[in-house]
Order: sequence, then C-alpha cells, then structure tokens
Amino acid sequence: MKDPFSLEGKVSVVTGGNGGIGKGIADGLAAKGSAVVIAARDESKTAEAVEDIRSRFGVTASGLFMDVAEPQSITSGIQKVLDEYGRIDVLVNNAGVNIRKQPQDYTVEEWDKILDINLRGAFLCCQAVYPAMKKAGRGKIINTGSMTSLYGLGKVVPYACSKMGILSLTYSLALAWARDGIFVNCILPGWIDTPLTVVARKDFPGLSQFVEDKTPMGRWGEPADFMGIAAFLASSASDFISGEYIRVDGGFAQHGNTVSFD
Ligand SMILES: NC(=O)c1ccc[n+]([C@@H]2O[C@H](COP(=O)([O-])OP(=O)(O)OC[C@H]3O[C@@H](n4cnc5c(N)ncnc54)[C@H](OP(=O)(O)O)[C@@H]3O)[C@@H](O)[C@H]2O)c1
Repeated sequence: MKDPFSLEGKVSVVTGGNGGIGKGIADGLAAKGSAVVIAARDESKTAEAVEDIRSRFGVTASGLFMDVAEPQSITSGIQKVLDEYGRIDVLVNNAGVNIRKQPQDYTVEEWDKILDINLRGAFLCCQAVYPAMKKAGRGKIINTGSMTSLYGLGKVVPYACSKMGILSLTYSLALAWARDGIFVNCILPGWIDTPLTVVARKDFPGLSQFVEDKTPMGRWGEPADFMGIAAFLASSASDFISGEYIRVDGGFAQHGNTVSFD
C-alpha cells in the first residue's frame, strides 16, 4: 500500500521558508519526498536553507526571491516556479512580520505593512496558484496563523487582526475551492523559539519563564515541531480535512480553560 503521507513527486512552495517555523515546515515536506521552493527576501538565508534541505533530505530544492508585500513579486515568482517545475501541489503561506506597541501608537504605514505581508500576501499567493491547482484538480494550501487567530492580544493589534483574517481566509477559500479539489487548512503555532520571538523576549523580560509556566509541555516550541503537521496537511492522509485549524502549542491554549488541582 502506498504511504498516505508520501509527498514523492510533489512540488511545494513555502513563503518565509528560509528560517524559523517556515523552515520546519519545509523540512517536513522534504522529509516526505516533496521538491521544495523556498520563497523569501533574504537570498543568503534562503541559499543556506536550500542547501541544508538538499543535503539532509536528498530532494530537489531551490530558492526564489519573493516579497509577498509586492503583488507583482508574487505573480512573477509563482510563474517562475510553474515554468521551472510545471506544477505546484502545495502552497504554504507562512511569511509573517510583527510590530509590538500600544494600539494608539501605530502609524498607517505600520498597519499596512503588517496586513500587506501577513494577510494580503497570503491571499494573493492563493490567487496566483489557483489556476494551476484547479487545472490539476488538486492542491493543498496551508496557512500559518497564530494563537491570535483565536484570541485578542493588546500589544499586537494589527498582527492579531491579520491572523484572525488568515483563519477567515482559510475557512472561506476552503468553501470556495472545495469542488476544485483544493484543500485549505491553517496551523496555529503557540510560543515557538524563532527570530520573531527572540525580539519579543528582549522586549518582555520574563516572557521565557511565562511561556514555560503556561505551556503544559513545559517548553517553547521548535521549528522541527512543525514537520509532522506540514507533511500531514500536504499529503493525501488529510484528504477529508479542509477549512480546519490545528494548534501546535504544547497545550498552551488549553491551559487557561481548565482548573489545576496539583
Ligand atoms: N514564533 C512564534 O512563536 C509564532 C507564533 C505564532 C505564529 N507565528 C507565525 O509563524 C510564521 C513564521 O514566523 P517565525 O516565528 O518563524 O518568524 P521568522 O523566523 O521571523 O520568519 C518569518 C519569515 O517570513 C519571511 N518574510 C517576512 N516578510 C516577508 C515578505 N515581505 N516577503 C516574503 N517573506 C517574508 C522571512 O524571510 P525574509 O526576511 O528573508 O523575507 C522569514 O522567513 C509567521 O507567519 C508568524 O506570524 C510565529
């Protein structure tokens, strides 16, 4: 019987795949045999990630300069992948940024930057891959949300809005494209040790301990924690799942919903 988790012969594009959670996702796809295209802006970081994937997993991997804040960069980038590989089976919308401050202090430019990268960029990537996936009669889209896809967070208002938007995008595209054979799901990371949260830990001394205390598994997440979920959502093993989110948070979100008697 064929391995339902196999991604042999598939081509995956991972935005923001050159580090952090995106690299963990790209590793997971490569580990199951997918060719991987890493789409991001920092080309030296991308080159390192591509080399690492090739050497560790023995799959085809390449880098693509893409700025998801720029619509033209998305359309030309996706076209390049189609020209080179002839197909895109999996799109992972993972590129994301954050700016932390009080809501009253954000500028219009800061709001636009966060929403353009985190939400509009993801939507435009979905639009760009749609014709190829529809023609193939099949495609898997995986979006990276956040705990703020479910809950508000006072010091990151535009980010939280973008991540709630990502969940609505997931639900809505799953409905719109189900009959085209396109599955759309969302991963909600908890507190993960990446360059994004290194900055948060500098800004909020005590955050490290707070996360360890509030996470039932007692630790920060690692990019490698995303390998399995990515492979699952990209593969035929998840072929009756669409419009769903899965938390990868060590139990963090459940913590506040229960009473501990220890
Ligand atoms: N770490 C956490 O605890 C956590 C929790 C919840 C959700 N998340 C989400 O997980 C995703 C990955 O974050 P991370 O923690 O792994 O942080 P990260 O290491 O800073 O990764 C962010 C990635 O996005 C890329 N990126 C940023 N702006 C881009 C743009 N305009 N165009 C293309 N790529 C862009 C970056 O690459 P370049 O700079 O090279 O473009 C980088 O690869 C984000 O969507 C974030 O919101 C993280």
